[in-house]
Amino acid sequence: MKKVITYGTFDLLHYGHIELLRRASKLGDCLIVALSTDEFNSREKNKKTYFSYEERKKMLEAIRYVDKVIPEENWEQKRTDVVDFDIDVFVIGNDWTGHFDDLKDLCEVVYLERTPDISTSQIKEDLHDKKTNA
Ligand code: CTP
Repeated sequence: MKKVITYGTFDLLHYGHIELLRRASKLGDCLIVALSTDEFNSREKNKKTYFSYEERKKMLEAIRYVDKVIPEENWEQKRTDVVDFDIDVFVIGNDWTGHFDDLKDLCEVVYLERTPDISTSQIKEDLHDKKTNA
């Protein structure tokens, strides 16, 4: 069985996320999502999510492309995850191109093109603008 892993925050789930997950799942037979915890988001990514880790996890688990959700708690866990989960393909959007090439000795590394014109930050900005212009 070919196993694929991807990492991210996936807050305010949108069609760019779904597209990433759909294409990632096609690269193998089983897709694991390592979902950034609230603690990791605030400590390392300077992100305060709208939905909590448990809420984001529930939504991801409801998507048919996703087989398993695990917590992403630090930057260093990727190598251990790849080994522990016997991963064949590491995949992430091309906003991270080159960042994870060091994993190439363990598995295939794929950077997928991001879906244009959509992001969680953009949604937040647009909603904020709508509110302030109302
Ligand atoms: N992603 C994508 N296309 C988009 C937005 C995100 O392919 N339009 C991918 C990212 O490249 C990443 C995954 O979805 O592999 C999770 O991204 P995440 O950072 O959680 O989503 P963003 O919408 O980019 O969030 P933010 O605006 O907070 O950075």
